[in-house]
Amino acid sequence: MSITLEAGQVVGLMGDNGAGKSTLVKMIAGNFRPSEGTMRLDGKEIVMHRPVEARQHGIEIVHQDLALCNNLTAAANVFLGRELRRGVGPFRILDYKTMYRRAGDIFKELKSETRPRDLVKQMSGGQRQAVAIARTMLSEAKIVLMDEPTAAISVRQVAEVLNLIRELRDRGIAVVLISHRMPDVFTVADRVIVMRRGRKVADKSIAASSPEEVTGLITGAIEQV
Ligand SMILES: Nc1ncnc2c1ncn2[C@@H]1O[C@H](COP(=O)(O)OP(=O)(O)O)[C@@H](O)[C@H]1O
Ligand SMILES: [Mg+2]
Repeated sequence: MSITLEAGQVVGLMGDNGAGKSTLVKMIAGNFRPSEGTMRLDGKEIVMHRPVEARQHGIEIVHQDLALCNNLTAAANVFLGRELRRGVGPFRILDYKTMYRRAGDIFKELKSETRPRDLVKQMSGGQRQAVAIARTMLSEAKIVLMDEPTAAISVRQVAEVLNLIRELRDRGIAVVLISHRMPDVFTVADRVIVMRRGRKVADKSIAASSPEEVTGLITGAIEQV
């Protein structure tokens, strides 16, 4: 199986539980080592052993569980593991001022109402997604992979998360949206890829497909297109 991602395009990745969606995006993000195959970025082959190496290539992932720290602020979560420091030698201290400012800029860029000093534990599911998505914008992301970002949030918040995805797309980022929700994919995606039992069974433009066809492909009622 082979897939291609394009800058400024949203790909909906669909398939039943166990189809292999999470495994595929984790390989692209350097979490899992593929047993075979190659990955090319801008035409050049890349080999990754750890997630940090994927990040250096501009590949970011928003995991299904988000991996946020509830007792920390939005800004602290955006910079989790990538904290900014100032000073020299043993006197290096965390540069909160810059982190708050930079996080605020990113939320503004995403048109999110999240404030850098808000505590994550007081946030809605949609706002938590905004924090996780803001993390992907710390450096020049080229690919953002999202695993079920709208699975556990309310209808109104779904619209907000879809808007965040559009902001990423408008910045020329290639977005992969894993979702079970047909309306989300058909609202925001340009292309849909369907997986079944570890294989790709469809890869086509949204305009050329339909929710009925995708449902058939997911269940196996339609073999392949
Ligand atoms: N290409 C593959 N080859 C072998 N096993 C796979 C492959 N893709 C996924 N799996 C296995 O299938 C199971 C479900 O995969 P997962 O990626 O979690 O599915 P999904 O996210 O679509 O629900 C996992 O145990 C995973 O290890
Ligand atoms: Mg999964």
